[in-house]
Amino acid sequence: MTRIAIVGGGIMGLGIGWYLARAGADVTIFDRDRAGRAASWVAGGMLAPHAEAEPGEERVLPLLLEGHRRWPAFVEALEAATGQTLDYRTDGTFVVALNADDARTLRFWYAYLHDMGQPVEWLSGYDVRKREPHLSREVVAAIWSGHDYHVDNRRVVEALKTAFVRAGGTLREATPVREIVIDGARVRGVRLDDGLFEADTVVLAAGAWSREVAGLPPEIRPPVRPVRGQVVMLRMPADAPVLHHVVWCMDAYLVPRSSGELLIGATVEEMGFDATPTAGGVFHLLRGAWEVLPAIYDLPLVEIAVGFRPTSRDDAPILGPTPVEGLVMATGHHRNGILLAPLTADVVSRFVLTGELDPLAQPFTLARFLSQPT
Ligand code: GLY
Repeated sequence: MTRIAIVGGGIMGLGIGWYLARAGADVTIFDRDRAGRAASWVAGGMLAPHAEAEPGEERVLPLLLEGHRRWPAFVEALEAATGQTLDYRTDGTFVVALNADDARTLRFWYAYLHDMGQPVEWLSGYDVRKREPHLSREVVAAIWSGHDYHVDNRRVVEALKTAFVRAGGTLREATPVREIVIDGARVRGVRLDDGLFEADTVVLAAGAWSREVAGLPPEIRPPVRPVRGQVVMLRMPADAPVLHHVVWCMDAYLVPRSSGELLIGATVEEMGFDATPTAGGVFHLLRGAWEVLPAIYDLPLVEIAVGFRPTSRDDAPILGPTPVEGLVMATGHHRNGILLAPLTADVVSRFVLTGELDPLAQPFTLARFLSQPT
């Protein structure tokens, strides 16, 4: 049987590993720390291809929409495999405007989404407050996107760890991969502190660190950089949550969890791998969230976290084959990692098992960058 090594135990590595292990493959995931505790842990968990679509993203939109379509079956399978609940919520999302200026920007956005056939509605501030009574009276209008959902990403990665191991996969945490070992045009395995781990296939799923892994010829290092996101977690009273839907405003988004946690995210910063939270970042988020939902003022602040989005040069993921036989990529998901996790798990695991790449993923291989310096 062929042996598969996955570099990185984030939501991509775990998802791909689970799909491969349940298909009977011999698969080991290596994480240098604790699996699922980097970007996958800090995410908002929004499954929002409609509300989050931006002009200029037309090329990636079919992938995002298909990613969204895969979530219900993924949740069902993962909950059944583990007996854990993922807090997958289909309540919908508001994108709100706090003044006439915001409303004009939002109108433009709404027209774009509407023209693309996305299922969105324009609402007055009054209509929004009927559904979210704690929102500020300053909210003058909103886009309602009833098909934009969310999930508790932390529960997802914990469940994936369980499912992967139950399916027969080997999870090696606190085990850094020092080098991907390539012999001529073929991968041989990964070098660990205790020697070579031979593998027929190596899947590089190391998120924002994918470019840093040693051993890759310079021309195939994926053009991925870290884009820092700070998030703040508050706790709502369990019996009286102040928010029920995901709300986006110009400076922040607010994601209520069924557990009572209220996540406020996220900054978008080019700060390399600096993991220090900043007063400015937290201030920006809290001010943005407070303007929309003044009731957050009295809520306990329970966590500040920093994550690194793996952002490729064109903001789209890098999936599938490379010029090195046996070396496969699953990285560069930028702001869409949680949304694209089930689709990536399916497409990449099928490629590993069959050598066939789903047509949907074909525009998103490393090949698109190979004629440019990486
Ligand atoms: N998708 C949410 C974020 O990147 O902050």
